[in-house]
Amino acid sequence: MPTATAKGVQRQVEELRDKIRYHEHRYYVLDDPELSDADFDRLMQQLKKLEAEHPGLVTPDSPTQRVGGKPREGFVKVPHSSPMLSLDNAYSEEELRAWERRVHELSGRTDVEYVCELKLDGLSMALRYAPEDGGREARFAQGVTRGDGSVGEDVTANVRAVRSVPLAVPGATLKAKGLPASFEARGEIIMPTRSFERMNQEREQQGLSKFANPRNAAAGAVRVLDPSITAQRRLDFYAYFLLVNGRARFARHSESLEALHAAGFKVNRNWRVAADIEEVWRYIREWEPKREKLDYEIDGVVIKVNDTRLQGELGFTGKAPRWAIAYKYAARAGITQVEDIQVQVGRTGKLTPVAWLKPVSIGGTTVTRATLHNEDEIERLGVKIGDWVTVERGGDVIPKVVKVEEDKAHPRGDKRFRFPAHCPVCGGLVVRAEGEADHRCVNANCPAKLRETILHFASRGVMNIDGLGEALVNQLTDRGLVKNVADLYALTKDDLLNLERMGDKSAQNVLDEIAASRKLPLERVIYGMGIRFVGERTAEFLAEHFGSLDALMQAPVEELLEVNEVGPRIAASIHEYFREPRNRELVEKLRRAGLTFTGKKRQRGTQLQGKIFVLTGTLANHTRDAAKRMIEDAGGRVASSVSKKTDYVVAGADAGSKLDKARELGVKVIGEREMLELIGQG
Ligand code: IVH
Repeated sequence: MPTATAKGVQRQVEELRDKIRYHEHRYYVLDDPELSDADFDRLMQQLKKLEAEHPGLVTPDSPTQRVGGKPREGFVKVPHSSPMLSLDNAYSEEELRAWERRVHELSGRTDVEYVCELKLDGLSMALRYAPEDGGREARFAQGVTRGDGSVGEDVTANVRAVRSVPLAVPGATLKAKGLPASFEARGEIIMPTRSFERMNQEREQQGLSKFANPRNAAAGAVRVLDPSITAQRRLDFYAYFLLVNGRARFARHSESLEALHAAGFKVNRNWRVAADIEEVWRYIREWEPKREKLDYEIDGVVIKVNDTRLQGELGFTGKAPRWAIAYKYAARAGITQVEDIQVQVGRTGKLTPVAWLKPVSIGGTTVTRATLHNEDEIERLGVKIGDWVTVERGGDVIPKVVKVEEDKAHPRGDKRFRFPAHCPVCGGLVVRAEGEADHRCVNANCPAKLRETILHFASRGVMNIDGLGEALVNQLTDRGLVKNVADLYALTKDDLLNLERMGDKSAQNVLDEIAASRKLPLERVIYGMGIRFVGERTAEFLAEHFGSLDALMQAPVEELLEVNEVGPRIAASIHEYFREPRNRELVEKLRRAGLTFTGKKRQRGTQLQGKIFVLTGTLANHTRDAAKRMIEDAGGRVASSVSKKTDYVVAGADAGSKLDKARELGVKVIGEREMLELIGQG
């Protein structure tokens, strides 16, 4: 190969990588993307293609290599460059002030400055960076878990799959910040609450057991042997320590945090320098209520002496530094007694066993009930009525029973719980299907299902009908005013004024909210119908694919299967839902009520009905996305690889292996103009 072209390709590859790294940083570290997901994916595809064509150019810091390699057999143990210590804890203002006094005594100074940081509840990790490219850049070399503090496990491949971990730090940045190319960033790997909840939801739908909290889920994701699983788990890495040769690099810890941020690491933005312990205390108090609103869990505040020389003087005791302390917020767990176990019926008819507890205060909230998830979980915990149990309360997660207390102080209960054979609300038959974790009420008209369906329909992420809460829904269903979600749109002011605690103003508000919901887009309506297995994301894909509720309703299973992320189970569920006459009636009522039945029009023609296309190379007048959309709008489908089923391969400039494959299989190859002709725009 002539070196001139090889160089050209290499430059192209490097430029692409720089672009992708820049956009990854904007998206995953700064939470401030500039590109649409589609545009970002396109850059990634270009790079993947180039690398596939020139395997010699692949480097381990390429953005394509975040998830590479095969699942491993186990993890290798690695000693830490300097011990990964833990922290002493303070549980009260008094203990915090006692710590400050010790700092003053040992240092002989009273003007000590502190840095306050949120104490992220994840798992700590050391990331090593090593010189590359003749020492001009620092490249991510190794990720090691804390382990026992002296020896951890090498989880490099999995850490690589965490998108906020920079795979390389450019030389210019290192120089500007006075950093060598060899350093270690320590920090916390966490799973944001939203990802955690979504993951548990998905696991539940798949009949898998759920994780107890985000920390366990993150730890599990870091220790799986297959990095592609880590990648799916949406983890984050926040850096809070910078070490060079096992030591602090700067005069102040705050400078380390700034340098880490400048080097492209995600640094939790809520850190603050405090001039004295009063300011530290204010910070702690300020974050106690505010932490509920964070998208990740914290269990306290870490306070560090800012002056790193002073840190050195203060040194360590056993396993923890004297120059830092963790202030722990009141534990959000408590011990109490299970008074009863009852089942609740959800909108899909799922029966959830709930422990009724002797009231206990956890983190300032009185908890009287906690979920037990399902029969297997009750088995696993071995919980009986009368048992003493530990109950945990996470962010906005419902409290849950995490373990049974088994000591003399807490005698065991003796009443075993058995799942009822009949629905406690309607008396309908309860079944647990083969291979599923949940019991369900099979009565389609179960009033509990109705109540939950309406609450789901009205909730924030769905039709957003503010004011339609539990109390109101109960009255509406009990009085027979609302028998399905469509009835909401027929409610009159008089209907509402006859209810308890309903004045003219609140009645009008509810009516206005209901009216406003008519304008919400198609995907919300689909999500709101409460079709089993159809969550927010699936509803979006369905809306985009079909463009109208009518098209969705008439879709055969085969077409449902073409929709992104729709597998046989979801497709069957949707199909069954719309075959049920009662549901079809409901759709008609919603139509008459004036809800949005069509979406961001991706009106499909029929010119290309049933035809499968593969795009390759660069088209002169259309981007790949635009071409794909045009084909899909004309009723065709675009596949990613060539097979015997492919009808046409559309080849542009520099078409690669797909073109060869097409020729090999005898698939018809056309150009851009012929494609437009087929669509009818030629
Ligand atoms: S500093 C020698 N800063 O808390 C000091 N730790 O209980 C070591 N943690 O093992 C840690 N957020 O996993 C530090 N902003 C933060 C932290 C933090 C969470 C964790 C870390 C550590 C544990 C100590």
